[in-house]
Amino acid sequence: MQTIVVNSQKGGSGKSTVCRVLAVEASRAGLSVYLIDFDRDGHTLTNWHQTREAEEPRRVELSIAGLREGLKLLERQGADLVLIDTPPNSIHDMAEIFPLADLVLVPIKPTPDDLQAAAVTVASLKALQLPFLFVITQAIQNTNITAQAIAALSHHGPVAETLLVNRVVYPAAFTDGRTPQEVDKNGQAAREVGKLWVNIKACLHATMQEQRKAANG
Ligand SMILES: Nc1ncnc2c1ncn2[C@@H]1O[C@H](COP(=O)(O)OP(=O)(O)OP(=O)(O)O)[C@@H](O)[C@H]1O
Ligand SMILES: [Mg+2]
Repeated sequence: MQTIVVNSQKGGSGKSTVCRVLAVEASRAGLSVYLIDFDRDGHTLTNWHQTREAEEPRRVELSIAGLREGLKLLERQGADLVLIDTPPNSIHDMAEIFPLADLVLVPIKPTPDDLQAAAVTVASLKALQLPFLFVITQAIQNTNITAQAIAALSHHGPVAETLLVNRVVYPAAFTDGRTPQEVDKNGQAAREVGKLWVNIKACLHATMQEQRKAANG
């Protein structure tokens, strides 16, 4: 089982969106996927999941204190992937959550404010030596600001090759508990999410290899 934590300190950067679209993508690929919503104020992921008709991906409720044991239990139950959504401005709670991640995804909207806020998350991830990947979300295609954001972020860490472009199908799909790839499986957003999942699978694979190497001395 692998655990992905999705965090950025900036509100509205796309954390809950990344969790939702990747969980559905992984689930459609045949994995047993679980979601955990630690955004106790926003509840975006929980609300979306409650509106959703399909059973997969499943959602479990855990406290931060019970997370380690909860993850072990999920693994014993056969879970392949757990995606954890987190609130903004949560760097203190993250000290308990980050160490349990195999990979941290940091969604970033290409705006100067979001880029500035990324520094806090990155400092914390580097201190913990955790593998992470920036994911550009809500990108406006072919704009200088997006290209500049990628260039600026790549000084701090790896940036996912695939961007999630700003498209109306996201909020439209979320309204009834779905994701863009479930609304229009051949649409642009579906294609981007599919490619992003391929990028992330490669990262998870690399992380697993590293962990195996470390375990074997
Ligand atoms: N690629 C996209 N295209 C269009 N709208 C998007 C896209 N990604 C996210 N959104 C919209 O942007 C808003 C913020 O996204 P989301 O809720 O995922 O951010 P968040 O980081 O979880 O926010 P918070 O910090 O409040 O928890 C939502 O209304 C969502 O529907
Ligand atoms: Mg959220």
